[in-house]
Amino acid sequence: MPQLVTELELPFLNTVGMERQDAIDAIDAARTRHWLARTEVGYSVTRLADVTAILRDKRFHSALSMLPRMAGIEDSGYMARRRRSILSMEGEEHARLRRLVAPAFTPASANRLRPTMRAVVGELVDRVADRGECELVADVCEPYPIPIICELLGAPPQDWKLFSAWATDIFRIFNANLVDDLPLIEKAAGELSAYVSDMIAERRQDPRQDLLSDLIAVEEEGDRLSTDEMAMLAEAVLMAGTDTTRNQLACSVALFSEHPDQWAMLAEQPELAQRAVEESMRYLGAVRGTARFASEDIVYRDVLFPAGTLVSTSLAGANRDAEAFEDPAAFDITRERDTAQMTFGAGIHFCMGAALARAELQEALPLLARRMPGLARNGPIEWKPSTFGIWGPAKLPLRFETG
Ligand code: HEM
Repeated sequence: MPQLVTELELPFLNTVGMERQDAIDAIDAARTRHWLARTEVGYSVTRLADVTAILRDKRFHSALSMLPRMAGIEDSGYMARRRRSILSMEGEEHARLRRLVAPAFTPASANRLRPTMRAVVGELVDRVADRGECELVADVCEPYPIPIICELLGAPPQDWKLFSAWATDIFRIFNANLVDDLPLIEKAAGELSAYVSDMIAERRQDPRQDLLSDLIAVEEEGDRLSTDEMAMLAEAVLMAGTDTTRNQLACSVALFSEHPDQWAMLAEQPELAQRAVEESMRYLGAVRGTARFASEDIVYRDVLFPAGTLVSTSLAGANRDAEAFEDPAAFDITRERDTAQMTFGAGIHFCMGAALARAELQEALPLLARRMPGLARNGPIEWKPSTFGIWGPAKLPLRFETG
């Protein structure tokens, strides 16, 4: 007989408000005691095997669609529209979209954008290189991903500010005062959707080398993406592809500022870029967790999770699991890798933009290491609140050698 989850004696895990290392210690302690922990809103798994198993278990559905309801929003029009996001779709509807979209998100299509990535990050560094100091978040990380997403979609580079403003407003969905922010979110989403619909109409006449043209061209057994679906995907790409990348870049560089020897090694051996990206994402990931809810009564590891139970999957916890990674507390960019780091998630919602994000970070990190030798803190790092789903430094003051 499976045991009801509410009847288990479990460690309690709450990392809200904790400093970075304290949160890691708390997760480590919970993971050592039990494979499952109780949280304020449900349960949490922190071992790599369980995080992977829950994310791959199709009976557990994305909890993203629950965010507005948890924030007290009952507007049914809004809910209906938001549920259509790929991030919160499930089953055949989700599988169909992923199938249709996959060819546009291969490493080869990410590689197409590498020259743009190098140019964008190179230009941002040029502006600060002679100064010998910068605030990396505002000077490099914030502005980096939007021109890449514009190029990916096929929008003209001068429109990046429009995209940036839309992204800022749409991101308010993760803020605490969602009820007040709803009109702004809706307005931004509507404008983006109209912009993308116009672009799609243009691309139907005049296809180019960009994501929207690729999406228009995809066809599988006569199935096609509608304009509405493509607009939703463009919004998903903008939403999921900007704040994640900029926070991850800031997390990675913050980490290197604590490990100057590894920074110097990366500058001298840019071929370590790939490993440096994987290791810094493992050690300090910008997405530290995601969440699922039981879509039906589920028995997992002989424990019954009643329908509706919320289970957080700690990606940060999985990344520090000693069962999966040797000496997980050591940051080492030469690490031989048998197990993949978990910051891109797993299962059907595994990050669709992983190849693109990897390319962006692989281009930026060695370039920064070469152009910012002798990297050191130029003041304390200000971290975003621990409640932020996409997390990293709010301010990262750095100094480095010039010339
Ligand atoms: C370092 C940067 C990034 C990180 C850490 C990251 C992380 C993640 C994670 C953890 C998920 C799964 C969420 C879940 O299971 O609930 C996800 C999904 C997704 N990501 Fe990323 N991401 C990054 C960059 C990007 C980029 C650049 C794009 C687009 C170009 C992108 C597009 C998406 C999309 C569309 C999904 C939803 C996939 C689905 O639901 O099937 N991401 N990402």
